Amino acid sequence: MNSKITIAGVEFKNPVMTASGTFGSGREYGEYMDLNQLGAVVVKGVAITPWKGNPAPRIAETYGGMLNSVGLQNPGVEAFIENDIPFLRQYDTKIIVNIAGRTIEEYCQVAERLGEVDVDLLELNISCPNVKEGGVAFGTDPFMVEKVTKEVKKYSKQPLIVKLSPNVTDITEMARAAESGGADGLSLINTLLGMAIDIYRRKPVLAMKVGGFSGPAIKPVALRMVYQVNKAVNLPIIGMGGIMTGEDAIEFIMAGATGVAVGTAHFNNPRASLEVVEGIQKYMDTYGVKDLAEIRGII
Ligand code: FUM
Repeated sequence: MNSKITIAGVEFKNPVMTASGTFGSGREYGEYMDLNQLGAVVVKGVAITPWKGNPAPRIAETYGGMLNSVGLQNPGVEAFIENDIPFLRQYDTKIIVNIAGRTIEEYCQVAERLGEVDVDLLELNISCPNVKEGGVAFGTDPFMVEKVTKEVKKYSKQPLIVKLSPNVTDITEMARAAESGGADGLSLINTLLGMAIDIYRRKPVLAMKVGGFSGPAIKPVALRMVYQVNKAVNLPIIGMGGIMTGEDAIEFIMAGATGVAVGTAHFNNPRASLEVVEGIQKYMDTYGVKDLAEIRGII
């Protein structure tokens, strides 16, 4: 049984990736797992200049998940290229760089710079709910989704995956807009906007008051959106949202995902993505699935 997949002409040894922002650039996880086993490492959002991120507290645990309001803290594209790409290239795994910007121009600059280096795909982050400019401000307006995608495509040498926000009435509208803009694939979902209150301090737990909700509690929402988007567009999908096990990943594949990303589970179990790889293989062996295409989108 082989679990190879192809997205936008790039072949992955298996469908399992790390969701951006939950795995850094992989360094911290190297002692728990062999990064060679992953289909891809998707790194934390990278901008053209270093960003400080939001004030603390910026994470909070909730029932079945967590809230984050990191604010896309990152060292900037030059430091990323110098430090993280050589580290990741030691491994036999694909590199997907999540790109962030405050303006369309900034997204284009990052894409253009990354076009000069050895990375496999770009993931356009127009869905971060924790920044005032760029992020979800672009990702909730179909006109802007199409426009940003179209502009960034002009500068990107690698295939461009557009990461969609669930904080919209109809995610298929955003998916179609990204497709019209020339996206080579979609990833979904980013986090749902949420909140927690410390009743003893009578204050929101997060300094920014609201943040992105992720973890197993959101899996049914994510699965439903992957299912709907798969019916609406003709693009490969990287599905994510609460994946904890191989069985969860198989659900996303049956809903229409080609790749699957593991995110919040890493904070509970640093080996989670590796266990998802093993769980998918076990499912395939047990049920005689020779190729994931046999079950992709069967629902
Ligand atoms: O706040 C953050 O850094 C989150 C980023 C994202 O959800 O894309």
